[in-house]
Amino acid sequence: MSYLNLIATSAFGLESIVVHELKKIGVEKTEVENGRINFQGDYSTIVKSNLWLRCADRVLIKLATFKAYDFEQLFQGALAVEWENFIPVNGKMHVIGKAVNSKLHSVPDCQAIVKKAIVESMKRKHNQEWFDESGPTYRIEISMLKDVATLTLDTSGDGLHKRGYREAQGEAPLKETLAAGLVDLSRWKPDRVFADPMCGSGTIPIEAAMKGKNIAPGLIRSFSSEEWPEISASLWKTHREEAEDLINKNPMEILASDIDKRVFDAAVNNAKKARVGDCIVFQKKPMSEFSSSKKYGCLVCNPPYGERMQSEREVHELYSEMGRVFSKLDSWSIFIMTSNENFEKSFGRRSDKNRKLYNGKIKTHLYQYLGELPPRK
Ligand SMILES: C[S@@+](CC[C@H](N)C(=O)[O-])C[C@H]1O[C@@H](n2cnc3c(N)ncnc32)[C@H](O)[C@@H]1O
Repeated sequence: MSYLNLIATSAFGLESIVVHELKKIGVEKTEVENGRINFQGDYSTIVKSNLWLRCADRVLIKLATFKAYDFEQLFQGALAVEWENFIPVNGKMHVIGKAVNSKLHSVPDCQAIVKKAIVESMKRKHNQEWFDESGPTYRIEISMLKDVATLTLDTSGDGLHKRGYREAQGEAPLKETLAAGLVDLSRWKPDRVFADPMCGSGTIPIEAAMKGKNIAPGLIRSFSSEEWPEISASLWKTHREEAEDLINKNPMEILASDIDKRVFDAAVNNAKKARVGDCIVFQKKPMSEFSSSKKYGCLVCNPPYGERMQSEREVHELYSEMGRVFSKLDSWSIFIMTSNENFEKSFGRRSDKNRKLYNGKIKTHLYQYLGELPPRK
């Protein structure tokens, strides 16, 4: 088959990590836009990217992109796609949409026109009037941006952050994809201690452990394109078996703690489900009791921001305490993500670097305090 145009979507700020992850699965050529990484590949690339991308939100097939100032142009553009190459006669066609700065701004109307064009194309191809849509689901998105229509087909189904291990969660859990991004930005390797002393449901340490053990993030979940007849079940099986073989047994030391008993229990269960229960030492204790005699550790955490969970005065006190407790961690690298603009003041130290990241719709900064790296072996 010829190569397909593919898109990995991601949170703003994580694109360069996704580019790197794509390289690791053999995709050399990528083009980055805001929150989107364009690349090319075949069905095998679709399977591997769904199984292995830790920081991307979804993997889409880009079907067409064209100017559309009115419904007729949108209809004709959508009709020109060879839908029969992607959707079988019994496929369930679910059209979603979004529109930004476009003459065609009514999303429900755009969705209805695209659906009409798909059905019309299928009628012509299959010479039948009615489709029962009893088969696998095909989620098609019409995206209108500045009068340019882009049609995509979602290969992932549920967003890739849904790894399948987090049934139990705390009050403000981090998306798994963002937690994996924080681990990547920390440059942690399993030869160093890793810690999250405000771990909530455990997302950051679990993502670190999965990366350390090289567990493919999509290994225990399913994907909508797994149901599609076009991508053979044996291709999925081969790549799943390969991923299973690539899991290592490297020892590592990951410390996770939280003051809240309820979220702490959730974290332990989540880690077991993610197959990393044996790599993480969980403790129920306040951050103030965190200490380590080890050198070159890596601490990554996502404390309360003072928006949803605690008042401004309480977070100021918490951040000041973090400043005191973490200053004793000789040679450690510390990474703290918060939306609180006064963080550095309360923490008592300016960061060496900071990076803007979005936690959902919340603009945050990852404050980075870079310690020493372990001597090369
Ligand atoms: C934003 S949540 C962390 C969410 C977590 N990253 C996750 O994905 O579930 C902040 C966590 O800090 C914990 N916390 C707040 N104050 C603490 C303290 N003094 N010591 C330890 N944990 C604390 C809360 O119990 C909460 O679970």
